[in-house]
Amino acid sequence: MFRIEIDNINGKTESLYIYGDRSILAELEQYNILINHSCRQGHCGSCILQLLSGDVIHQDSLVPLSQGEILACRATPITDIKISSRD
Ligand code: FES
Repeated sequence: MFRIEIDNINGKTESLYIYGDRSILAELEQYNILINHSCRQGHCGSCILQLLSGDVIHQDSLVPLSQGEILACRATPITDIKISSRD
């Protein structure tokens, strides 16, 4: 089980405990933490988050990402992680 520590996303700062078998987007939705998203397939880039610590497995995407950026719809935690919005 892994912890997702959320740093001020949509005004929420909290920790979730997850099994690591779904995308971060799906995990956040499970906890009613809704972030921007559209395609859910790594095409649109609307779900970009900043990975502040920890590691994820990142599936292929068409979106160019800067250092530390991940797509919530394509990334699955493999350790405890800390994330925030890109701003
Ligand atoms: S929802 Fe489109 S890239 Fe994640």
